[in-house]
Amino acid sequence: MKARPYPGWITRLFIFAMTALAATGMMQMPLAKRYFISEIPGLSWTADFFIVHKLHYIFAILLLFVVALVVVHWLRDWRKQLALSTLGRTRVIILGGLIISGCLRVFRNLPNVTLNPDIVVTIEWVHLALTMVMGGVALAALIRKQSAYARKP
Ligand code: HEM
Repeated sequence: MKARPYPGWITRLFIFAMTALAATGMMQMPLAKRYFISEIPGLSWTADFFIVHKLHYIFAILLLFVVALVVVHWLRDWRKQLALSTLGRTRVIILGGLIISGCLRVFRNLPNVTLNPDIVVTIEWVHLALTMVMGGVALAALIRKQSAYARKP
């Protein structure tokens, strides 16, 4: 992994939050029971929708914290010293879509909120599709050794 021009702990926290969100998102579908992951000793909780749902919310809060930290740093000084790479910019856009669609899903889950079923399905598909696209782009960035979002111009 190439040295990044920003603190490593931010990268590690971001990767942790994204991996945990992808995993708990998949478990909500629910894939853990279908593929017998929940049969593995110690992993029975992966089939409990309410546990993985709450975990997804907790990791979403962590992700929003990391993103807010980066945005503030970016606006204050990083934008003067760093430039987003092409794959970095692509992932920022996908991440924005994931956060917006995720927040819309949270809104849809609120009691007393009733949305048109077509809108609900669209939000669900956008969130899931963006997860897949993010995985693909992240893999491409890793293979091309361009996983850093920003670099010194
Ligand atoms: C602010 C960030 C996020 C919020 C608020 C959020 C929220 C949600 C909610 C509410 C659900 C639906 C749970 C239900 O069935 O009621 C969901 C599903 C899911 N999320 Fe997220 N999410 C966020 C970020 C992410 C990220 C970054 C990923 C992937 C890296 C991800 C992957 C998934 C997946 C795979 C599902 C299940 C598939 C689906 O039904 O669309 N989420 N998320």
